[in-house]
Amino acid sequence: MVGRLSSARKKRFSSMKELLRGFKRGGRRIEIKPRRARVVGVFSCKGGVGKTTTAANLGMLLAERLGNGVIVIEANLSAPNLGLHLGIIDPKVTIHDVLAGAVPIERATNVVGGKLHAVPGSVAYEGGIPLVDLKGAIEPTRSKYKLIIIDSAPGLGAEAVAAIKACDEMLVVTNPEIPTIASTLRTFRAAQRYRIPITGVVVNKIMGKRYEVPLSEIRKTLGWPIIATVPDDDKVRESLTAGIPVVRYSPKSRAARAFRELADRTFEKLFKEGKRRQPSL
Ligand SMILES: Nc1ncnc2c1ncn2[C@@H]1O[C@H](COP(=O)(O)OP(=O)(O)O)[C@@H](O)[C@H]1O
Ligand SMILES: [Mg+2]
Repeated sequence: MVGRLSSARKKRFSSMKELLRGFKRGGRRIEIKPRRARVVGVFSCKGGVGKTTTAANLGMLLAERLGNGVIVIEANLSAPNLGLHLGIIDPKVTIHDVLAGAVPIERATNVVGGKLHAVPGSVAYEGGIPLVDLKGAIEPTRSKYKLIIIDSAPGLGAEAVAAIKACDEMLVVTNPEIPTIASTLRTFRAAQRYRIPITGVVVNKIMGKRYEVPLSEIRKTLGWPIIATVPDDDKVRESLTAGIPVVRYSPKSRAARAFRELADRTFEKLFKEGKRRQPSL
């Protein structure tokens, strides 16, 4: 009796396992894979071009679309300021503690604006910069979120390289001025070296002055699609002082409108085109 029951059970379990493993359709096995977040890094070789502003605003907007599915992570360990952009003033636990192996990343995660999850850095971290297995540190978040946004350090030093290695694709931020565009070319070369595809280029802080490099020139020089153009807008500076991304602080401002377009295009690229490429996700 007991034997008969357990063999019936075994049968049930094995058919459940089969179900979980996948099922056959037209002779092809379709695997059910655990969910893996897309990891998008925000990069530029120069500082001050608007990486953190872009990461914070994009995060805020896509979190509205993807529920609790978005996390933005500080990866500028020497000069972190993602927290300030998001109104996280004095975080007790930070990415520095996570990288030092002291705490799991969930303990450093804050929720801002109701939906966006964010891991800030420590402005006052006294230890050496724990260099740096960012990829390993964020691994546990891969199965919990749909999108991970990494706010990179400028340049191509160890911190930026750790961020490049941690991402699946890169959003490159630039400004319409010659030195910034020249350094953007270096970011592209790094992307090539590490074989990270570029989601697109954001041209930020456009003032419309005659001395600026025109978009057509930027497009020609960089050779990558520009997916958003963001005007220079004092509302962005004001919003930083308030610690609220401009898309929330001043939703009707010109910059907020531009960031909404960026979010639309990014969403399209990551979750529509991506879905077509990766039917198992
Ligand atoms: N579109 C914009 N208009 C006006 N100021 C901007 C804009 N984008 C960024 N800024 C300002 O430029 C400064 C640097 O931006 P930030 O995002 O911190 O740059 P990065 O992360 O590349 O160093 C901040 O004071 C920010 O408020
Ligand atoms: Mg920054």
